[in-house]
Amino acid sequence: MPSNGVQRREVHRHDRYLRMKPLNVADYRRLAKKRLPRGMFEYIDRGTEDEVGLRGIRNALDATKLCQNLLNDVSQPDTSTTVFGKKLPIPVIISPTAVAGLVWHDGEVHLARAAGSMGIPFCVATQSMTSMEDIAERAKGTDLWFQLYVFEDRSLTRDLLVRAKALGIRNLLFTADTPRSPKKEWNMRNGFGIPIKPSVAGGLDLLAHPRWSFSVMLRYILTTGMPTYAHYPPEYRTSITRASVWDNVKLARKLTWDDFAEVRRQWDGNLVLKGVLTPSDAGRALKLGADGIVVSCHGGRNMDCAPTAIDALPRIADAVDGRMTILADSGIRRGSDIAKYIATGADAVLIGRATLYGTATAGEKGARDVLEILREELDHCMAFTGQARLDDITADLIWKQTPAVG
Ligand SMILES: Cc1cc2nc3c(=O)[nH]c(=O)nc-3n(C[C@H](O)[C@H](O)[C@H](O)COP(=O)(O)O)c2cc1C
Repeated sequence: MPSNGVQRREVHRHDRYLRMKPLNVADYRRLAKKRLPRGMFEYIDRGTEDEVGLRGIRNALDATKLCQNLLNDVSQPDTSTTVFGKKLPIPVIISPTAVAGLVWHDGEVHLARAAGSMGIPFCVATQSMTSMEDIAERAKGTDLWFQLYVFEDRSLTRDLLVRAKALGIRNLLFTADTPRSPKKEWNMRNGFGIPIKPSVAGGLDLLAHPRWSFSVMLRYILTTGMPTYAHYPPEYRTSITRASVWDNVKLARKLTWDDFAEVRRQWDGNLVLKGVLTPSDAGRALKLGADGIVVSCHGGRNMDCAPTAIDALPRIADAVDGRMTILADSGIRRGSDIAKYIATGADAVLIGRATLYGTATAGEKGARDVLEILREELDHCMAFTGQARLDDITADLIWKQTPAVG
């Protein structure tokens, strides 16, 4: 058993090595943890209530095994696919994440540029710190999607759709799985939340993370001012340190299929329902004219007792039977996780935390590195499983445990 001193030296050596070359998403997660204030890191990283959902996602992905098929020509696996008529070099879209602009100065722009440099889309969140117009201007060439949270005041929601359309955005994710603010007990304890409330613990957290405090928060304060939700109309916009008093921009408490149908009438691009976990909801979305769904348990951040996306996916894919695009997310930390979602019935996946860890560590470069790592791991996974084309990855590839005899 090594002594504490030896253990500390080993951890230190490991950290120094990580600084030189992070090899995987977990390495980037550790670096993000060091750099971000604890409250913010936990806001991004953790789940809700007992975190059963968060653990379940990892367990379900780990329990999914892929078969190895030998002696196929996999000298150059083709990881590309087509989503809504657009060819993507890897089957990945960057997921909407509300606070990306706080993990790095102009984090959303960095993420969008990283996505663009990989030739994949970036989905702008309603609760982004940078507006879709700014991101489009500063990450030219990136295929932008938009994620919609419906406001209490539906006319403000309609305005967002008009703005997205004016920018040439074609793909809209309608998030439906967040009817309440989830119970994030880690954040209740560490005091982090939006609005960010001043506290002694919060102040000490900032002092303990000077690189973030200076290069992100202070930089905002000295340039554009305290960050705000950039898509909220100016008259309802409050800084992230003040509670919004406006009911109009609260997220709709009563959100129903009528709202989805209404957005379908207003939006002539591709409409994708995000947060689907049952075949019946998938069927209902299809009937109302959805072009796609995201099978998602919100990365274990919403309902702690929800089934995992990877477990829910096969029945949904069977029910949809190729009639609309199926995207999926939650828990992707390895290229093999992407292959597992594809094998289980997804056409492509969304990635939330993995690229946030990269952005929090090194901005655009960090996000781009994470995407490159995932691309390479997917390539490896295809080679090991003997699959030359992404389309060849089907349910046949999933290892079925033979029931014990006798
Ligand atoms: C910090 C953070 C903020 C998020 N904000 C939103 C959001 O505003 N809208 C939304 O539809 N999903 C949001 N999500 C969920 C992601 O879009 C995605 O479903 C989830 O992160 C996927 O799991 P993963 O992080 O394990 O990849 C957020 C996720 C994180 C980590």
